[in-house]
Amino acid sequence: MQLTTPQPARHPNPTTKASALAYAIFDRPDLKKAEGYLIDFGLRPVSNDSQLLLMRGTGPDPYCYVVHKAARPRFVGLGLEVETLADLEALSRIPGASAIETMTLPGGGQCVRLTDPSGFRVDAVFGRSRVPELPHRPPLPLNSIDAPARVNGTQRPPFTPPDVIRLGHVALEVADYQATSAWYTEHFGFIPSDVQALPDGSPAVAFMRLNRGDKPTDHHTLALAQTFAPALNHISFEVVDPDAVGIGMRLMRDRGWKHAWGMGRHLLGSQIFDYWEDPWGDKHEHYCDGDLFTADQPTGIHPASRAGMAQWGQVMPASFTRPKPTVSNVRALVHGLRTSPDVNVKKLRTLMKLFG
Ligand SMILES: [Fe+2]
Repeated sequence: MQLTTPQPARHPNPTTKASALAYAIFDRPDLKKAEGYLIDFGLRPVSNDSQLLLMRGTGPDPYCYVVHKAARPRFVGLGLEVETLADLEALSRIPGASAIETMTLPGGGQCVRLTDPSGFRVDAVFGRSRVPELPHRPPLPLNSIDAPARVNGTQRPPFTPPDVIRLGHVALEVADYQATSAWYTEHFGFIPSDVQALPDGSPAVAFMRLNRGDKPTDHHTLALAQTFAPALNHISFEVVDPDAVGIGMRLMRDRGWKHAWGMGRHLLGSQIFDYWEDPWGDKHEHYCDGDLFTADQPTGIHPASRAGMAQWGQVMPASFTRPKPTVSNVRALVHGLRTSPDVNVKKLRTLMKLFG
């Protein structure tokens, strides 16, 4: 199968090569409610005042989740780490970019604020200091068929929120697919790892990784899905092992949170996963055991399908991607059809048939 569109494609000479996903940014009307959900999910509070909530994983990032108090709940955008001040200078010359700003949150650093072609805020971040890692439960030793690791020993992982190690990836839905994909590949060096394509050869979903040369990096740090309007599809956090995913599932259910999809093992990326909705309906994924690719791994192109999203466990439910029938979504649909060169009725029908 071959793509019939220019994007997604790796750029031969990107402005920068982002080195990591730094954080996700949300607006929420109730910071206490947000914190309660995120603690059950496995994140740890860094600071919490009446206007700002910061959460972290056990890894060395000072924070990976930023929540601003606001009347209307929304996903605002993401932060991407770059490696040099020269990278920030280059990004500050992109049309619409801010000047280089000093960051005031824990860990400091400098950033350039950008807006991608779909309207998401993207902070390019340099020089945040690291913090001491927090302890996490080590992965459980498994009694494999070939090499038993436990004799006269049991598996009794504690029934607590799973240790979230770090923010792994962000999956965005966009209308202006070609422009948005071109922006991330050109300015941050993203490489498409695997693409699910529609029968006409246009992309339905692309899983994109960072360009870290020979250093193995996550199969995807950013995923872009074609829809009719920009939205967050989900954000994803790494936990230590499959038992952490499973304990997360039981604990989130016991505490009354809404399940979205899982458990299962993805096909593209291979992660063992489970998804939960936060109080505002945004999906948060626990995952472990994802694929790691170096920069030279070629892009895979696959026919789009719901079944192709997981190789075992629950097939992706239609509710995972089906837009909610709200007035604002109807307005966004009309707007997308009128303004986006990548959106048309035929494509939306195909997407609805496959994923809706
Ligand atoms: Fe994911």
